[in-house]
Amino acid sequence: MDRRAMLAGAGALGAVALLPGHAAGLAGPASRIPAVPPLPGPGLDAVARPRGLRIGTCLAQARPGADAGSLANPAYAALVERDCGLAVPENALKWQAVRPGPDRFDFAGFDMILHDAERRGLAMRGHTLLWHYDKWFPRWLIEHDFGAHPVQAAERMLRRHVETVCRRYGTRITSYDVVNEAVDPADGSMRSTALSRAMGSPEAVLDVAFHTARAAAPHAELVYNDYMSWEAGNEKHREGVLRLLEGLRRRGTPVDALGVQSHIGVFAPTTSVEEVVAGIAPAWRSFLDRVVAMGYRLVVTEFDVRDRGLAAAIPQRDRDVAAFARAYLDIMLSYPQLNDLLCWGLTDRYSWLRSFEPRPDGQATRGLPYDADFRAKPLYVALRDALAAAPVRPPRPART
Ligand code: XIL
Repeated sequence: MDRRAMLAGAGALGAVALLPGHAAGLAGPASRIPAVPPLPGPGLDAVARPRGLRIGTCLAQARPGADAGSLANPAYAALVERDCGLAVPENALKWQAVRPGPDRFDFAGFDMILHDAERRGLAMRGHTLLWHYDKWFPRWLIEHDFGAHPVQAAERMLRRHVETVCRRYGTRITSYDVVNEAVDPADGSMRSTALSRAMGSPEAVLDVAFHTARAAAPHAELVYNDYMSWEAGNEKHREGVLRLLEGLRRRGTPVDALGVQSHIGVFAPTTSVEEVVAGIAPAWRSFLDRVVAMGYRLVVTEFDVRDRGLAAAIPQRDRDVAAFARAYLDIMLSYPQLNDLLCWGLTDRYSWLRSFEPRPDGQATRGLPYDADFRAKPLYVALRDALAAAPVRPPRPART
């Protein structure tokens, strides 16, 4: 039994034994964090490993009072230890976090996350070397004057960023979302940003980012990550991503995998989740078939379920979320090109959906495996069952 499997097996007991003391010692809102209830059976990562899969979650930075989805929060750490073998920073490695200015880097936040993750034997993904979307650039970058030779100046800035991150962390980061969200979902075109305007085209930005990452982190899996999802309405986004992936292959840009964010959801009232799934599954499969036919691997990078269109009543909503997710996971896990599946958080208490996608009725969202009181929900069981039923696949091919 390896260390992860051991931790996962001991997780339930360990969590219960650990929590009361820690929680009592915390000030402010953290003192209201509930204890993690025991859960029989192995955690998600332990179920996943024998199938050639790994399970992960995003991690937030510690906050004063520790009530955050951070490893500094013992209640959250207990969930992570129980279920995960892999992690990714939710925000701490984005330009907004590590680039306070054009000539400044600040890695204090991510260093702490990585240190805590390594102590627990978690592998780390890097998210993201470039979120290619002006909305998420730091203000200084949008306003930056690239001078008389903008192509060279912007390229230099991007290269420096990618090299600085990749060299600083070396083999401690095994996989990077090199570029995130470069396609405009409205029409499938490539987004224009302050960097692409300076460098002449979005394609030039992507090529520099991936080539630089390959040279600076030759061991790492390089991923293009986006949110083209399986619901109806995302057809143009999916076509745009396919065009982007084809272009990368044509130009010989080194990209190993498509990151499928997987913020899946039911947005309109429905009497049958199964009917919704039947309507969207075939197109989704053919999208994935086209991606893997180009030689890309797949990573589920940010899984959660948006429940805006589902009933307010919790038992019904939880069942529908679980059924919708199970159908999705079964498709994703049927691809042997997929080895890693990461949730965008583990408990509804810290989910980004709470503020980014509140329900119209004001009720709390329930899109993650554990509820706000750290109790496992039907979605947890759906995940575990989907993993248990997943075909065994060969481990991801090593890069070095
Ligand atoms: C989100 C975080 O969860 C929020 O805390 C932050 O305010 C905005 O970004 N796609 C991505 C992630 O690639 O980086 C986003 O994370 C969620 C959508």
